[in-house]
Amino acid sequence: MSEQDVELEARLAEQDEFEPPGSFVEQANVTDPSIYDESADDWPACWEDAATLLDWSTEYEQVLDDSNPPFYEWFTGGELNASANCLDRHLDERGDETAIEWVGELGDTRTYTYRDLHREVNEFAATLRDQGVEADDVVTLYMPMVPELPIAMLACARLGAPHSVVFAGFSANALATRMESADSPVLVTCDGYYRRGEALEHKLKADEGVAAVEHDVTGVVIDRLGDEYEHSMREADHDYDTLIADHEGEKVEPVTRDAEDMLFLMYTSGTTGEPKGVKHTTGGYLSWVAWTSHAVLDVKPEDTYWCSADIGWITGHSYIVYGPLALGTTTVMYEGTPDYPEKDRLWEIVEEYDVTQLYTAPTAIRSFMKWGEEYPARHDLSSLRLLGTVGEPINPRAWKWYYRNIGGESCPVVDTWWQTETGGLMVTTLPGVNSMKPGSAGPPLPGIGSRIVDTDGEEVAAGRAGHLTIQKPWPGMLRTLYQNDERFIEEYWAEYSDTDSGDPDDWVYFPGDGAKIDDDGYLTILGRVDDVVNISGHRLGTMEIESAIVSVEGVAEAAVVGGDHEVKGETVYAYVITEDGYAGDDEMQDAIIAGVEDGIGPIARPEEVVFTPELPKTRSGKIMRRLLEDVANREEVGSTNTLRNPEIVDEIQRQVGGAD
Ligand code: WTA
Repeated sequence: MSEQDVELEARLAEQDEFEPPGSFVEQANVTDPSIYDESADDWPACWEDAATLLDWSTEYEQVLDDSNPPFYEWFTGGELNASANCLDRHLDERGDETAIEWVGELGDTRTYTYRDLHREVNEFAATLRDQGVEADDVVTLYMPMVPELPIAMLACARLGAPHSVVFAGFSANALATRMESADSPVLVTCDGYYRRGEALEHKLKADEGVAAVEHDVTGVVIDRLGDEYEHSMREADHDYDTLIADHEGEKVEPVTRDAEDMLFLMYTSGTTGEPKGVKHTTGGYLSWVAWTSHAVLDVKPEDTYWCSADIGWITGHSYIVYGPLALGTTTVMYEGTPDYPEKDRLWEIVEEYDVTQLYTAPTAIRSFMKWGEEYPARHDLSSLRLLGTVGEPINPRAWKWYYRNIGGESCPVVDTWWQTETGGLMVTTLPGVNSMKPGSAGPPLPGIGSRIVDTDGEEVAAGRAGHLTIQKPWPGMLRTLYQNDERFIEEYWAEYSDTDSGDPDDWVYFPGDGAKIDDDGYLTILGRVDDVVNISGHRLGTMEIESAIVSVEGVAEAAVVGGDHEVKGETVYAYVITEDGYAGDDEMQDAIIAGVEDGIGPIARPEEVVFTPELPKTRSGKIMRRLLEDVANREEVGSTNTLRNPEIVDEIQRQVGGAD
């Protein structure tokens, strides 16, 4: 490092507040701070600003119907179609502009103009209709990052058939559970895909999943790997290219959907073993992702915007597909990993396409830091105007590294807190308005009321940790858990609401995160306070992992916790009791790892499996996970007073290697 660099580093390390760069503010979509006061004074009518970003075939009558909390309805009486909003309405002005810039891992690329995308979405919608898909049928999409994934999503939206995208890295078993739960009659999948240059098999996993589903499943299979790679075809499977060719040039009139009709289901992890089907609607969700893309990500039609998430998670739904396409911009989609063929792959793409916004995850930034600043330094990144992060807390050091080495100190960094259930961004700075404080996501967005409370629901003082709560509904919120209103109330509302009340003021949303607030109203998110872990920005329930482990032969009981990890943020630690007659040996460890990979997927693979004769339990029999977390983190273990078997903690600690 040069002397100048050392000085700069020292200055950055000291600085804890950053003004939005003037060059950014000059051109930002939102620059007037009065938006905060105005939206508070004019709530909920302020959300008309979001609705006006869409084309409605029937104007809505009411912005918010809160007569039956927490079953809020937004833009009631309004009608629209999401695919028409993402495609048709752009054709006249932007038909020949690029909608999707797809970059394959091996260097192959595909460019879809709005007209191209419109054509293929129509053809695939015609295909699905031909296969019997009707409005409200749930279509499951189990695919990696290929262009046919957003095409299939928009084709479903065109027909009014909600999609349920299952992350390609999830196992056959995870696919089966989700298809079964949604009673989904159609699966769109593919033969395989590339990871670090190698062809990965996908279709057999899909077949295995479908075989475990009780009802019949029609399949559509995309050929990603080409002819030299043979894949299985079930009798009920059809080849995507053949079907599309049969419907060449066909048009499908977008089905008119009520604002409150379901756009999609997205399964996510909660505190129990069963994944939850989060229901998002057409009007509220689409207006929310469009508005947040406009106000926070500063998306403009002429941009080349890139969110590096996977579409298999909510971030990709909202900020690769629906938000950017609703605004008519160019959205980049990258198939592969950031270090293939080299650790500068992302920067090469930024330079090549003149990317204007980059939205990624702290876990990726921590990897970039580890690899070193020489990789971004090889490329001209001056096209970038804004940087964003999502998925987990970003520590100030990583924030500053990103700000300096990727943004060249001239791009605002938005640290965006939100979740699958919120549909889109909730807490973050408005990049053209607020100053940024590394490590703190920022204030809640205008119109979002949040409070940090203690376990009694009392607001805590600035600087004190508490639970994050959201006091008012917002258009992008989940409407319920699929076919499970009771669990919806239980999971998100019961904690801090008067559930017998019909007054919306008595209903408070609890997202499951801890947070603290500073004197300027900026929130620092402290992570989940429930049994959910965040592995490389991927949300997983510890109970789901435990249930995969206890289904391994010879396992009697298991407890899973998240331990700190330098790059992944958190990683899975499993404490396992074997049944009599089974040894906690390498073979058992391998069986447990395989069990988790089969049950959920490789992302949930335990970093460490610790065999123990007992688990630390309270007198009432509850596992003390907090102590197991301390052990995983090699930290001094908290009080064992309430345990009925305190001696076991020492023993487990000895095995793991004890405190540093
Ligand atoms: C965490 C991803 C700190 C949080 C969009 C939340 C964050 C969970 C941030 C949701 C952030 C997300 N700072 N923590 N900026 N963004 N989280 O549903 O714990 O996959 O509850 O949605 O990720 O994960 P999900």
